[in-house]
Amino acid sequence: MRIYRAKDYKDMSRKAANIISAQIIMKPNCVLGLATGSTPIGTYEQLVEWYRKGDLDFSDVTTVNLDEYKGLPRDNEQSYYYFMHDNLFKHVNIDLSRTYLPDGMEPDSKKACDDYNHIIHSLGGIDLQLLGLGHNGHIGFNEPGLAFETETHCVDLTEKTMKANQRFFASLDDVPKQAYTMGTKTIMQAKKILMVVSGKDKAQILHDAFFGPVTPQVPASILQMHNDVSIVADEDALALIPQ
Ligand code: GLP
Repeated sequence: MRIYRAKDYKDMSRKAANIISAQIIMKPNCVLGLATGSTPIGTYEQLVEWYRKGDLDFSDVTTVNLDEYKGLPRDNEQSYYYFMHDNLFKHVNIDLSRTYLPDGMEPDSKKACDDYNHIIHSLGGIDLQLLGLGHNGHIGFNEPGLAFETETHCVDLTEKTMKANQRFFASLDDVPKQAYTMGTKTIMQAKKILMVVSGKDKAQILHDAFFGPVTPQVPASILQMHNDVSIVADEDALALIPQ
């Protein structure tokens, strides 16, 4: 595990974008695992800026996203489909037919998850998986207590996660209660992992995830067992991590 210390959110975003750029430059037809949430937004902005300057080419890149709310249509501004288009896809020369997210509008959970697992397998796995970190240690939507060895599955979101994501919806009642998420097993099979973490409110969970015991109670702690994890975090988030 490598920890890259960033001064602040902007510096974190730039450093993370540099790692993703290096991946695209070294392997133009790579499979990128992408994440949503507020933390990676600056990373996507930086990638778009470099694309506009002519420094990056997404034309051969394939993407698979971590998760999607169950029941939110693609044109809902809070769907992760919308998020990815708004923050990255519509700004770069990516081939949209090679951008994948779980189908949130598929009511049959088993079908939605099997289909997504099939896509990931047929792509030959993920070269670089970008991750954020939930306040309870979740990655994707893998909530505390779930088995580590899952592939894409349907989860009931915890109240803590629904409350954390409430800020994006009109009310708590509007936050979907379920989501389809890549499982921990799928995430662990990615060749490289890049986690971005920002802010004082993530300091404790960042510490617990990487310097505490490996336990399903802290889903991100399983990443201690992965052999190529880069964490890019700002000083606030690193406050409890020894220098
Ligand atoms: C959501 C997403 C996660 C993300 C987490 C943290 O629950 N499903 O993939 O990592 O939020 O979000 P934020 O970066 O806004 O703190």
